[in-house]
Amino acid sequence: MTRVNMVVDGVSYADEVEPRTLLVHHLRERLGKVGTLVGCDTSNCGACTVHLDGVSVKSCSVLAVQADGAEVTTIEGLATGGELHPVQRAFHENHGLQCGFCTPGMIMQSVDLLKENPDPTEEQVREGLEGNLCRCTGYQNIVKAVQAAAQTLKPAGA
Ligand code: FES
Ligand code: FES
Repeated sequence: MTRVNMVVDGVSYADEVEPRTLLVHHLRERLGKVGTLVGCDTSNCGACTVHLDGVSVKSCSVLAVQADGAEVTTIEGLATGGELHPVQRAFHENHGLQCGFCTPGMIMQSVDLLKENPDPTEEQVREGLEGNLCRCTGYQNIVKAVQAAAQTLKPAGA
């Protein structure tokens, strides 16, 4: 077992983990962060996307020990003060989900995408989300939601 310290959604945790434990399993099984989902075993679907030190990663492709000392944000830590994050709100308002399975990962990836590119074209949104699979929506409303969130997040006067 290896000792790991990490801050997850603003709370510090110190745990002993098996060196082979994946970050997604640590988050879900040890820390109860079940909003982060597992949709494949091939690092393919993106349902497990979280932010590791502010950058989106597929948490099924990272070992828990690799997150030692890091700050992790999951979908459960995105809302602040009881208010949905603008990207969460945009998915809700633009019907960017159906079954919702892909949604936590889509939203985490979208937040990162908009940080990199605050005003993406439709094509850039599609490119930025190509590592996240949705089997329900046909992606149209997801793209709409991300572009709507971009407008909300834009600094006034930009
Ligand atoms: S569960 Fe991580 S990419 Fe599918
Ligand atoms: S809403 Fe069902 S997989 Fe995306």
